[in-house]
Amino acid sequence: MMSTISISPLREEDIPGAIDAIQKAFAEDPYNLWVYNDRSNLNLNRNRVSLGIRCRWGIRNALFYVAKDPSSDDNKVLGIAMWMPPRPSELKETWGEWLEGWKLWCQQVGMNVWYGRGGLNVKRYYIWKKRQAEAQTEIWTDPKGYYFCNIIVVLPEAQGRGIGRALFHEVTKKADAEGRRCYLESSRDEPNTKIYEAMGFHFVKQMDCDDDGDVCKLYCMVREPQNPS
Ligand SMILES: CC(C)(COP(=O)(O)OP(=O)(O)OC[C@H]1O[C@@H](n2cnc3c(N)ncnc32)[C@H](O)[C@@H]1OP(=O)(O)O)[C@@H](O)C(=O)NCCC(=O)NCCS
Repeated sequence: MMSTISISPLREEDIPGAIDAIQKAFAEDPYNLWVYNDRSNLNLNRNRVSLGIRCRWGIRNALFYVAKDPSSDDNKVLGIAMWMPPRPSELKETWGEWLEGWKLWCQQVGMNVWYGRGGLNVKRYYIWKKRQAEAQTEIWTDPKGYYFCNIIVVLPEAQGRGIGRALFHEVTKKADAEGRRCYLESSRDEPNTKIYEAMGFHFVKQMDCDDDGDVCKLYCMVREPQNPS
């Protein structure tokens, strides 16, 4: 593991670097290629605006971390992780969360009016949302709720050096202390499921997002809480 890596909450000034990391790490991602299948209309600027809206929402609503090398001068974002906090089953959505959801939706509608869909296949997006809701209803049986790793990326040139592990650890240590489970959906079988197994996750279900035979497979994985020895 890199000795000099620092993990801290993501801030407004980190957003451009976070977007670069997401776009670079997901360029060849199978889900990304499936949902943005109309490559001739792919609009990376629209995608930057969309990711910016999502990042600002994440700063307010998610557990959002950035990895940097404090010994480098450029303060470059090397990786990010965005997690949704667990929702115990007895807790209902608050008004604040509901309003945040609406705000996000309105901003996305505004963006679509301004930029169009930018290559996003809307039908596929909703197929994925439906399969995701079904999978989570089936898998999330623990009443304490799950830490849900929504996005984790490390810049391609910085991968394989322990940054992903350090980003995971920031949240898995909390989950372990609270005796809570973690959850993620990986769009890559190889090598990601191996990487997530090294983080303590195990495979629970394959999610097939099927658009008339063009299938995107996602791999749902759960991590049990581990007792620090
Ligand atoms: C997945 C990702 C976040 C992992 O981050 P990373 O910094 O490369 O991972 P690390 O270097 O911390 O490695 C984590 C563990 O996985 C193992 N690992 C890393 N690459 C591996 C590979 N290709 N095959 C098998 N195991 C691997 C490491 O050995 C390490 O385990 P260890 O600490 O027990 O030795 C990163 O590779 C990435 O951004 N990939 C592209 C984007 C992506 O697919 N994101 C997730 C979408 S679901």
